[in-house]
Amino acid sequence: MKTIILSLIAMVATISAYGQQSKTLVVYYSRTGNTEAVAKHIQSLTGADLFKVETVKAYPEGYHETTEVAKVEKSSSARPEIKGKVENIDQYDTVFVGFPIWWGTYPMAVATFLDTYELAGKTIIPFCTHGGGGVDQGFNDVKKLTPNSTHKNGLSLSGSRAAALKAEVEKWLKEIGVI
Ligand SMILES: Cc1cc2nc3c(=O)[nH]c(=O)nc-3n(C[C@H](O)[C@H](O)[C@H](O)COP(=O)(O)O)c2cc1C
Repeated sequence: MKTIILSLIAMVATISAYGQQSKTLVVYYSRTGNTEAVAKHIQSLTGADLFKVETVKAYPEGYHETTEVAKVEKSSSARPEIKGKVENIDQYDTVFVGFPIWWGTYPMAVATFLDTYELAGKTIIPFCTHGGGGVDQGFNDVKKLTPNSTHKNGLSLSGSRAAALKAEVEKWLKEIGVI
């Protein structure tokens, strides 16, 4: 009888520990798929959930027109409305935040996401793709909007090579202790 009770206690403890296992979310914005490729590398290496940030109002088709809209949004610190919703953000203790560099930082829709969800106490890990201009302010700006989170070193990749760089993503995830 005692053995059965002890086994039951052990079973309950295992189940509740499993329930509290850390969960990871990969949030990303991607206009042309480069950042999305990195998000999917992270997902396949960690088993994380994915959430794609999409704006309610679409950007223009053309690259140049999009850069003009984005420039105005950046200078006015706009918060473009985003579609969809993350179900129960509380279940995640690690949140990757990925974006293409737009005018030296994240697209403002990423700021909408960071403003919308309570991320205090969570670990935030940024990543980005760029067109050669580098990261500039992007990662610092993520920190500024999530002052009560813990931050790990981000990864920045050249957009045109991002899809082919799964090994690079894996190396980074090992360096920061995620896998
Ligand atoms: C509006 C806009 C602004 C951009 N600004 C920059 C920039 O400041 N620096 C840079 O290196 N690349 C810039 N790029 C290039 C993108 O960061 C790069 O192509 C990125 O990999 C695109 O990612 P995506 O396919 O996930 O949208 C810009 C692209 C757009 C559309």
